Amino acid sequence: MLIAKGIAKSYETEAGIVPVLSDVNLELARGDAISIMGPSGSGKSSLLHILGVLDPPTEGEYTFDGVEPWTLEEREQARFRNKEIGFVFQDHCLLPQCTVLENVMSPYIVGERDEAAEERARTLISRAGLTERIQHFPSQLSGGEKQRVAIVRAMIRQPRLLLCDEPTGNLDQQTAWQVLTLLAEMRQELNCILMIVTHSPDIAGEFSRQYTVRDRKLVRTV
Ligand SMILES: Nc1ncnc2c1ncn2[C@@H]1O[C@H](COP(=O)(O)OP(=O)(O)OP(=O)(O)O)[C@@H](O)[C@H]1O
Ligand SMILES: [Mg+2]
Repeated sequence: MLIAKGIAKSYETEAGIVPVLSDVNLELARGDAISIMGPSGSGKSSLLHILGVLDPPTEGEYTFDGVEPWTLEEREQARFRNKEIGFVFQDHCLLPQCTVLENVMSPYIVGERDEAAEERARTLISRAGLTERIQHFPSQLSGGEKQRVAIVRAMIRQPRLLLCDEPTGNLDQQTAWQVLTLLAEMRQELNCILMIVTHSPDIAGEFSRQYTVRDRKLVRTV
């Protein structure tokens, strides 16, 4: 279970405090998939960063499968993030000097890079239709291919939470659907929680639970 209660977020800047989110509540069970829409600047990325244990909330409680990640000591927190959470960003964020295979393997720490891990990486790369690109560098891939690599990389450690921040924002419509299909397949296979931020009503419409960030609150719309 993912349980967020009374989450608030504000940023301190030189110009003063910028309130972004207030009293955000959310409960998701294993296998749930939701979309989040909302105007630019409404706080969607901020929310994903809190739930992804990248940036702390200003207030509120966050529990994931009984663990409160924001109360963990830094090293435990990093381990939790690395093992349990997969992130896909709008701009794939691949390592430019690494091949597709190396990128997909990058979430494994050195001691974990055994043959089984590599086998799993190869299988997922094949599932994403990228076997022929396995030794390519990101600069040698199309936008859709890069995003599929990013998805495979996010899934390689079998996370329990998959957070996607406008994963199809830079793609044409057909490529966007391919990426979305891969995400849906991977979610089903791992039975993880999937949260996807999107500006596209068509993509949001694919989800049986839909949310919008509006006036600093997370509102369920469908
Ligand atoms: N590190 C920061 N310091 C100060 N303000 C910030 C910081 N990060 C975000 N903000 C502000 O918080 C608000 C919400 O930002 P956020 O990135 O969460 O919006 P968003 O809904 O993801 O927007 P978009 O759709 O454009 O990606 C914005 O007004 C932004 O300027
Ligand atoms: Mg954003």
